[in-house]
Amino acid sequence: MAKSETQVAIITGSAQGIGKAIASRIAANGVTVVIADLNEKKAQATAAELGGLAVKVDISQEAEVAALVATVMAKYGRIDILVNDAAIVPFVPWSDLTFTEWRRVMAVNVDGLFLMCRAVGDVMKDAGYGRIVNIASNVFVAGTPNLAHYVASKGAVIGFTRALASEVGQFGITVNAVAPGLTESDGVKESPHNEGFGYVVPMQAIDRKGQPEDIAPAVAFLTTEEARWVTGSLLVVDGGHTRH
Ligand SMILES: NC(=O)c1ccc[n+]([C@@H]2O[C@H](COP(=O)([O-])OP(=O)(O)OC[C@H]3O[C@@H](n4cnc5c(N)ncnc54)[C@H](O)[C@@H]3O)[C@@H](O)[C@H]2O)c1
Repeated sequence: MAKSETQVAIITGSAQGIGKAIASRIAANGVTVVIADLNEKKAQATAAELGGLAVKVDISQEAEVAALVATVMAKYGRIDILVNDAAIVPFVPWSDLTFTEWRRVMAVNVDGLFLMCRAVGDVMKDAGYGRIVNIASNVFVAGTPNLAHYVASKGAVIGFTRALASEVGQFGITVNAVAPGLTESDGVKESPHNEGFGYVVPMQAIDRKGQPEDIAPAVAFLTTEEARWVTGSLLVVDGGHTRH
């Protein structure tokens, strides 16, 4: 396997929404993007659009994550950037929240992110370089209702980001979290969260709906070599909703 001359980024959940905008912005930096998503058809369409590689993966399954990393290493011989964007955001009031539903969210949002960092982090450690960005959410700051399991999962993402940064800085790897506010992604447009704009937008410093393209540049910066002195951080990108 010949090592790719350009940097390679895996962006989970990048078939659509915020992840797709992130992949597009990172590709604009000359990086080869891997569109890693559960939705194979959409992942292929996005990869064709951005000139990258589509890989179908369920990040909550350890064997599938291992297969993804093996596929990327066999094709490119390197993984410089990992953006953990894939997540599920079910709207469930506390009175209806079951343990099964709690576990379902944790399996993707927390276990999946761990599995990706576990597998890709080891590749980065061997290379002595890496940039990991974990997509959190400003709901952790705001304590948004009807999302207790999701809010808890994003709290885990932020805590894990800080702890992992402490351990892998010595290997040239930075780990940061970006917390978007309510954003008009494909997922949000098709869900009850779409109703939230009427409540959230008036609270923002900038009174319009957030778009995936508003989030992507902040993430892309943290994936560059020159972001080398930023690690263990949380960057809130929410139009001034929480002013965190
Ligand atoms: N949109 C918002 O308002 C908002 C706000 C704050 C944070 N976020 C976070 O931003 C990220 C993207 O959100 P979005 O609104 O663009 O989402 P979206 O629903 O539009 O897209 C999510 C993508 O993740 C993929 N995915 C889901 N489960 C997966 C799994 N197990 N394995 C692999 N891929 C999987 C889906 O197929 C989909 O392509 C998420 O981490 C979300 O929590 C979103």
